[in-house]
Amino acid sequence: MGNSESVVTPWEVRGEVDYRELIERFGVEPLTERIVNRLKVHAGGLHLLLRRGMFFAHREFDEWMDSYERGVKVILYTGRGPSGNTHLGHLIPWLFTKYLQDTFKCELYFQVTDDEKFLFNPELTTEQVAEFTKENLLDIIAVGFDPERTKIFTNLSYSKPLYNMAVRVAKHVTFSTAKATFGFSESSNIGMIFFPAMQAAPCFIHQYLKSEDAHVLIPCAIDQEPYWRISRDVAPKMGYRKPAGIYSKFIPGLGSGGKMSASLPDTAIFLSDTTKEATRKVKNAFTGGQPTIREQKEKGGNPDVCVVYSYLYSLFDEDDKAVSETYESCKGGGLVCGDCKERLAEKVGKFLEEHRRRREAARETVNKYLLRE
Ligand code: TYM
Repeated sequence: MGNSESVVTPWEVRGEVDYRELIERFGVEPLTERIVNRLKVHAGGLHLLLRRGMFFAHREFDEWMDSYERGVKVILYTGRGPSGNTHLGHLIPWLFTKYLQDTFKCELYFQVTDDEKFLFNPELTTEQVAEFTKENLLDIIAVGFDPERTKIFTNLSYSKPLYNMAVRVAKHVTFSTAKATFGFSESSNIGMIFFPAMQAAPCFIHQYLKSEDAHVLIPCAIDQEPYWRISRDVAPKMGYRKPAGIYSKFIPGLGSGGKMSASLPDTAIFLSDTTKEATRKVKNAFTGGQPTIREQKEKGGNPDVCVVYSYLYSLFDEDDKAVSETYESCKGGGLVCGDCKERLAEKVGKFLEEHRRRREAARETVNKYLLRE
């Protein structure tokens, strides 16, 4: 662990995350300008999340592009654990996955781990998880994945093929490795201990279903990386290519410190929030401003620690010139926090409105995407 406060696991992200240190600790590679430029050639432009450094690390993403260029079948795999309503943080890997799907015109396997959320959360019943799954599916489809190339499945309703693959994975993973990788203990229930095999299974499901070679790329935030360590370990033992990965940072919550998390609802923007609710949350956000307007004008603010600025920078302001003007003007005392909050609230409001519209339309198309047994 880097600084003593920082914890990053698939179930918990706590403290100040040092991404450079995480690259070392997880043994992943930094996303270099050379690789990003190679993607740019294929995509014809760079997604905001790349331009502003939200995606920062990878495993063999360049080899995955080699495969694409050589005509090997390339595939995307990402997912969601339905433990509550979807928030803006979850959307980050999905928006990026859509950009990759549009660029490489490839199939996407999207796993919804209803089993995981039931097993890992003592409070949740299967009925509650099923309800969240239904709601989350609409958010996933609203992202606009290609219906012809996207297969979404939940572990509990597509269990036969997944279980067939998961047992093959599980045979190669010892309890000692699972314990070291995920921190399981004597009191973990036995479903939790098997679960990593279920999340690894879709890395190989296309190859299993279609009996053809494929190179899989997993876009997600860095918290999911431990699963891919296991998947990459077992892949050659099963005769498959190791899955590649491309990893994002976490969008912070609206408070001071920590990633956006559903367990802190006042500092998370849910896709189900009304414009009024989202505006209220933005207005209460932590900023880098001075305590009074007079001091702000005299001393200037600190955009480097400001959550409002970080949202504009990472997600909501595509205009490079506008965003750097905001930065300079805040530092020079020419901007007050209320103005930035207003600008962000307006952008968030528009975004949510558009998402709601697409989400409603998704009710008609959901069945087109779903894989069932
Ligand atoms: P879940 O539902 O916790 O998260 C879904 C995706 O969102 C990412 N994420 C974030 N990204 C940026 N900022 C944040 N604040 C933030 N919070 C979460 C997660 O990394 C994830 O990519 N076990 C998984 C479900 C899963 C999965 C997968 C995820 C199954 N197969 C393959 C990624 C790839 C889970 O509970 O994700």
